[in-house]
Amino acid sequence: MDKNSLTITDNRTNKSYEIPLVDGNIRTMDLRQIKKDPDDFGVMGYDPAFLNTASCRSKITYIDGDKGILRYRGYPIEELAESHTYLEVAYLLLFGELPAQAQRASWEDLVTHHRMLHETTKTFLEGFRYDAHPMTMLISTVAALSTVYHDARNIHDLESRRLNMVRLIAKMPTMAAYAYRHNLGFPYVYPDDLLTYTENFMTMLFKMVEPKYVAHPVLARALDILFILHADHEQNCSTNVMRSVGSSQADPFVCTAAAAAALSGPLHGGANEEVLRMLDEIGSKDHVPAFIEKVKGGKGKLMGFGHRVYKNYDPRARIIKQTAEQVFEVTGRNPKLDIALELERIALEDEYFVKRKLYPNVDFYSGLIYQAMGFRPEMFTVLFAIPRTVGWLAQWEELLLDSEQKIARPRQVFAGSELRHVAGFAERHAVPATR
Ligand code: ACO
Repeated sequence: MDKNSLTITDNRTNKSYEIPLVDGNIRTMDLRQIKKDPDDFGVMGYDPAFLNTASCRSKITYIDGDKGILRYRGYPIEELAESHTYLEVAYLLLFGELPAQAQRASWEDLVTHHRMLHETTKTFLEGFRYDAHPMTMLISTVAALSTVYHDARNIHDLESRRLNMVRLIAKMPTMAAYAYRHNLGFPYVYPDDLLTYTENFMTMLFKMVEPKYVAHPVLARALDILFILHADHEQNCSTNVMRSVGSSQADPFVCTAAAAAALSGPLHGGANEEVLRMLDEIGSKDHVPAFIEKVKGGKGKLMGFGHRVYKNYDPRARIIKQTAEQVFEVTGRNPKLDIALELERIALEDEYFVKRKLYPNVDFYSGLIYQAMGFRPEMFTVLFAIPRTVGWLAQWEELLLDSEQKIARPRQVFAGSELRHVAGFAERHAVPATR
């Protein structure tokens, strides 16, 4: 018998099945042969929220959640954050290798060239209400790019696909900056081709009437590091949405809008905004123990803590904590840092959090940096979506080129009514639509 397999005995029939292991895993389709009767559907895997189901084979990002390891294409996140730029890392994620010198220059030129938005997209953004949430503006505007670039539907054409991927990476900061300025009632600032990706972004955000806005180099580098840390994170909620929508062969703009919508939720990328609200609610270091007790009593969560995959310190949170110190030397210390440090100190010692392996995640400290740099909490998830776009696109292209992939379509275990027949009004027991 092949040792690289599982033997499953069906106690209903006493029949045994040999299920092959590939890379240590079974294919759940192999369970379908296990039937009580020949006309049975066969056994399925039931796995709400994908706790133990791999949906793809991927070569992009590796995480060992128990050891706190994160690698892009084999390179440790620490090395990439230490000495590379976001655009180099974007190239690595998309094409598998870091760019050589000549490729780096042409890649940067290419992305720079596509930063502008069509004027109709600018007008589209102007149509939002003055107090629209910037993340919702971004989600809608990304989808609206699909109305401008009709060729985006040619997803099987390499040239067209790559062009629209570059458009997305290049235009995300422009849309994000316009959404930010829209909230403030400030005129939009057009991109400046002489500036790097993050310097240009900061200029589009913060330039007022001065002839030339100069981004502080420490802050521009800090933003670039944050972008590197957020660029990809294998099969997280929003990436799963990107792949799922992409599997229907929708264009990359609407796929990215769907992924960004998933990111906006408070359990995912929206957590950074919630962390700041939580720190405001706590108010001072002295109130931390009472807040921790509240969380342990089941009243709310410690936002920015916990992760489906990391059962150890999130390596990104460690780098962000170091980056925060450099930023605070320029901007002054964010007074909420003391509350955050005290929360972390107590949580890392408390049995409730230790037992559940709850550690700070990427969102715990990032908001403190963003706030010190002058962003309001509403912008935090937008700042996450900009760099994650490259991860979504790398995963989307991998999906399209994977011959094993088909339209994503989970099964269900039906738990509703057996067959019944429609009755007259007098015999109906309707529940109210609202309670
Ligand atoms: N605060 C308090 N308790 C928590 C927290 C938290 N932040 N996170 C998990 N727990 C508890 C749960 O209540 C549960 O306890 P129980 O076993 O007594 O029921 C246990 O820890 C396991 O938690 P799950 O919810 O099963 O873990 P899951 O993997 O489904 O959720 C998630 C992961 C969504 C990140 C969760 O930890 C959470 O809600 N954290 C706060 C929100 C957050 O920071 N999200 C950002 C994640 S990083 C990212 O997406 C970029």
